[in-house]
Amino acid sequence: MRTSSFTITENQYPTSSERLAEILAAPGFGEFTTDHVAKVEWTGDYSTGGEWDHARIEPYAPLSLDPATSVFHYGQEVFEGLKAYRHQDGSVWLFRPEANAERFRRSAKRLALPELPTEIFIDAVHALVEKDSRWIPEGEGTSLYIRPFMIATEKFLGVRPTREALFEVIASPAANYFGSPEPVDIWWSQNYARAGQGGTGAAKCGGNYAASLLPQLEGEAKGCKQVMFTDEHRDHTVEELGGMNVFFVLKDGTLVTPKLTGTILEGVTRKSIVELAQENGMKVVEKTITVDEWQAGIAQDEITEIFACGTAAVIAPMGRLLYEDGEIPAASQTNGEVTQWLRTQLTGIQTGRVEDRFGWMTRVI
Ligand code: COI
Repeated sequence: MRTSSFTITENQYPTSSERLAEILAAPGFGEFTTDHVAKVEWTGDYSTGGEWDHARIEPYAPLSLDPATSVFHYGQEVFEGLKAYRHQDGSVWLFRPEANAERFRRSAKRLALPELPTEIFIDAVHALVEKDSRWIPEGEGTSLYIRPFMIATEKFLGVRPTREALFEVIASPAANYFGSPEPVDIWWSQNYARAGQGGTGAAKCGGNYAASLLPQLEGEAKGCKQVMFTDEHRDHTVEELGGMNVFFVLKDGTLVTPKLTGTILEGVTRKSIVELAQENGMKVVEKTITVDEWQAGIAQDEITEIFACGTAAVIAPMGRLLYEDGEIPAASQTNGEVTQWLRTQLTGIQTGRVEDRFGWMTRVI
């Protein structure tokens, strides 16, 4: 077990065993939070550096912040999403936490927030998961979703990088993100963009997700559970979905996913799927793919499966692509062989049912 530098204050009113059993029987996604929170504070200057201090685990509680706190005005905020899994022997494991820690640093840099050392990120996650391990659900497809985030906490209305920041980790028991394993129809947003070259598209920051909400509503009105963004300056190049990356499986077994251009989030699940497929001898191509190519690929049955992936979504089969003037039908095999193989491998490694030959898992308990 890791020795943690986090001091711990017990929650005097932890959730009762009866209530917890009810929650864990049907956790949904993002509805409930555990009894504790990990916190670390930073003071300093973005350009010259600063100090991380006061690492602690506290009872989960609302934050009290001055209305002039800069995060409320200029959106200096970044976050992450990762999961802890309980294996059959009762041990508890994290999936690639160092990849999330590294992306968190990259996101923070883009938002002119301090770069949290990987060691502190991982220590905080370990300390919280250990403390609230009774919150990890055990049902098929469930896990403890962990949400690290950082906000600018300086009380200051001028526009410049904050000199105070708060890093917190909260956790929430989770089941299937979409509520069902059915293929998800996607709305192609042609009125809105998520990101542009030089913007914050590759950073995991709240603003990107805020920008996806209005198009997401447009999509929901058409019965779609996810929205897809394209780059209209490059022939409607497919970028990503509101909160997940996208993959196409071709008839010859090749896996195609939009290449990273600086406007797309570098998904940890995306990267893991590429590595799994390559290890299995599959051809993986990271390239630009346009909506026209998508349409032709489906019409000619060249694209046989389409799926979305992310920490929350895991690997979810996609259905039709709907847009203002029409639709592209679903691929001939929704939840096809390749989608299923990748999901079985990925979730098998995460839950300890498949050997972790990549060294992706880190034991907490
Ligand atoms: C995640 O997959 O961890 C995300 O942050 C995406 C969001 C849709 C929950």
